[in-house]
Amino acid sequence: MIKVDISNVWGEIALPDLLTMEKEVAAAHATLADGTGAGNDFLGWQNLPTRTPGEEVRRIQAAAQKIRSDSDVFVVVGIGGSYLGPRAAIELLQGANYNLMKGKGNPQVFFVGNGLSTRYWNDLCKLLEGKDFSIAIISKSGTTTEPAIATRALRWMLERKYGTDGARSRIYAITDPCKGALRQMATEEGWESFVIPPDVGGRFSVLTAVGLLPLAVAGIDIEEMLSGAMDAKEAYDLRSFENPVWLYAAVRNLLYRNGKAIELFESFEPGFKMFGGWWQQLFGESEGKDGKGLFPVTAEFTADLHSLGQMIQQGKRNIFETMVRFDAPEQKYTIGSDYKNLDGLNYLEGKTLDFVDEKAFLGTLAAHVDGGVPVITMDCGELNDRKVGELFYFLELSCGVSAYILGVNPFNQPGVEFYKRNMFQLLGKPGYEKN
Ligand code: PA5
Repeated sequence: MIKVDISNVWGEIALPDLLTMEKEVAAAHATLADGTGAGNDFLGWQNLPTRTPGEEVRRIQAAAQKIRSDSDVFVVVGIGGSYLGPRAAIELLQGANYNLMKGKGNPQVFFVGNGLSTRYWNDLCKLLEGKDFSIAIISKSGTTTEPAIATRALRWMLERKYGTDGARSRIYAITDPCKGALRQMATEEGWESFVIPPDVGGRFSVLTAVGLLPLAVAGIDIEEMLSGAMDAKEAYDLRSFENPVWLYAAVRNLLYRNGKAIELFESFEPGFKMFGGWWQQLFGESEGKDGKGLFPVTAEFTADLHSLGQMIQQGKRNIFETMVRFDAPEQKYTIGSDYKNLDGLNYLEGKTLDFVDEKAFLGTLAAHVDGGVPVITMDCGELNDRKVGELFYFLELSCGVSAYILGVNPFNQPGVEFYKRNMFQLLGKPGYEKN
């Protein structure tokens, strides 16, 4: 189980406060599990964990095998919930520089359609020159502007390079089973396709083909990941404060009620940054509505201690932190001796980098708590494919419970449409003309 330690929040909240929340948390958990709350037509994510992969997972594995054998690069097109999950898991498990370590039989994985930058697009075109590549188009609606523009361009690039038939065998669509523009394109063009179930929202879709196909192409064991999620589904159904989901959901709501406005979700692993981005969307889109919600921000330590550290330590006291920890890897780096010792580091001779990292963590924790910033710690244990599956499900469940405690529908995102409406009007999209 992931261990949630709340011993560093007691300066801000008291045990009786937590205990009085028991009924509220139990009710929120039951609302989610029984499907009786707002947004209950989007609870399909609870059925995604499995120990016995079905036909869809087998097809994903076969497609990934083909892509690994015929492509130097796999380009994944998508945005938001159709993008963050796979990138988060790849970077967490394989490091932020994962693409530099790829070679024949192990394609580089690049993401596009998650913005509108021409510079980013030009760079991608350059790196695709002379490379064999395949693409996955991920869009539940099939009409999102950013991925639609990238899809059109990449599809033409593939057709120019491989001809219509050759291109067809290198395009994979991941979308709604029945409706939407992408489903129609996949059917008309004969692209292999995978399904985002209608009852699974974008930010809860990482354990569908949305996450599983890119992850399998990256060489991650998706069966292990799904089993890890199943471990979580079983373990975190516990209905008491022994459940770390309860602790996390209850404490973040208590801190919010006590005036905290920002949750910093951080780790001492650089590969965690995109995972923090996935968490940001999960909690931000699920809770930020009806004038409520904690503002979710992610940070990377120790790097950001040299940028955000001052603000965390002595800025406005409206922040709390959630620090995520993983066991140190088996392969160690030991600090050596230097006979001149001009940098004064010889006092660390023979110590491992992990040892220094651990002290940095403990030092940071104590400093921030002393500075009036409550800190929740999440100890995840060993970092592996299975654990990441567990962590995904753990956080999805925590998010659902937390949002119901907050009193909002965790599964809609009406606010996301506002910028789109303005953009479409400015672009002159038919149906969006100014009156
Ligand atoms: O969580 C969500 O629903 C959103 O972030 C969507 O995933 C995002 O807007 C992309 O939508 P689509 O998959 O329809 O292209």
